[in-house]
Amino acid sequence: MKEIIGVIGAGTMGAGIAQVAAQAGHKVVLSDTNPEQLLRAEQQIKKSIDKLVEKGKFSAESGQEILQNLQFSTQLSEHSQASLVIEAIVENLGIKHQVFQQLEQVVGPTCVLASNTSSLSIASIGACLQDASRFMGIHFFNPATLMPLVEVIPGVATSDENTQRIEQLITSWYKTVVVCKDTPGFIVNRVARPFYGEALRIYEEGLADFATIDWAMTTIGGFKMGPFTLMDYIGNDINYTVTETVFAAFYYDPRFKPSFTQKRHMEAGFLGRKSGRGFYDYKEDSTAPAPTEDHNLGRQIFERILVLLINEAADAVFMQVASPEAVDLAMTKGVNYPKGLLAWADELGAVWVLERLETLFAEYGEDRYRPNPLLRRKAREQSKFIL
Ligand SMILES: NC(=O)c1ccc[n+]([C@@H]2O[C@H](COP(=O)([O-])OP(=O)(O)OC[C@H]3O[C@@H](n4cnc5c(N)ncnc54)[C@H](O)[C@@H]3O)[C@@H](O)[C@H]2O)c1
Repeated sequence: MKEIIGVIGAGTMGAGIAQVAAQAGHKVVLSDTNPEQLLRAEQQIKKSIDKLVEKGKFSAESGQEILQNLQFSTQLSEHSQASLVIEAIVENLGIKHQVFQQLEQVVGPTCVLASNTSSLSIASIGACLQDASRFMGIHFFNPATLMPLVEVIPGVATSDENTQRIEQLITSWYKTVVVCKDTPGFIVNRVARPFYGEALRIYEEGLADFATIDWAMTTIGGFKMGPFTLMDYIGNDINYTVTETVFAAFYYDPRFKPSFTQKRHMEAGFLGRKSGRGFYDYKEDSTAPAPTEDHNLGRQIFERILVLLINEAADAVFMQVASPEAVDLAMTKGVNYPKGLLAWADELGAVWVLERLETLFAEYGEDRYRPNPLLRRKAREQSKFIL
């Protein structure tokens, strides 16, 4: 059924989310307090739709219809008829509260309200509402038009009925939906931490340089991008901030400890591709450093990062953040991992994974390597995560 969807914030995420909803056939109102930003979003969406028409994804008439279904406004009151409003404004709790309190006065009683927040808790945003049972997280990935995954996050106050309704609705937008608990980093931003953190740690210990670690993860591991290439792509400022936020939100659990190397790169302005230099140099005349293609070393690097990723995936299941299937879907569809981490663990065997973690834990004596109890159980029972 076609609905009226509201999106607040016409920045990177909001413009993409509005386009996704319009492409699914809904009428969409995209609002922003900044009229220039609205204009930029309108131009960006038009350009993107034109390209899709050119590529034959839609007919010219459908493209036209999608654009006609999009309305741009500086007024929050324009969301009065919406059945769902997704907020994608600046990541600031106070400002989000102001917007949601005003919005609640504008919309009808059955309208679902949602935030695209990456790092604030759903409970803390929803607490400002009179009816928090209609509030949840709907977390798209950047770019929202291309990334298939959406995490739907009910808060403690959210009704099951509303969660199910939104799960169905977003699935009908040609997205892969995973439902997860309101815990820091949700699924992807939590489970993916060791991909960056352990790669940085391996570098800091002097075991290998950036290029060799990236080579190991792509060539031996089958990942599309190595950790350092990916951090440069995401931006060291953004990636570091996510790590720091998740670390603090987990009451400083050492598993999520940020890295000085990344912090120093950020402080030096080595942000990645966008600043011309990150872990690698992106200036035109620069040449990419060659990796040391030592297979034994590469295997050691890949296995160390992989077992930590599997341990984190097991923890998300152990702590009931999401089902094993949802965790695997999230990592393959949200960050393009070549395999679901838990399916990977099943393939290698929980005993194999546990042995490697126990070796690391014994060697370092650090909590970041402590094996998860669910992994221990799977190893003991010789059973699988994915049934
Ligand atoms: N950028 C990402 O990769 C990404 C990914 C997933 C989730 N998120 C989350 O999505 C949200 C938006 O992030 P973004 O990167 O699109 O931000 P952005 O800075 O690109 O855009 C934010 C927009 O909100 C507008 N805005 C600010 N205050 C407003 C208000 N009171 N009312 C209406 N509009 C207002 C700004 O004018 C701006 O256009 C954040 O909560 C962020 O955590 C971001």
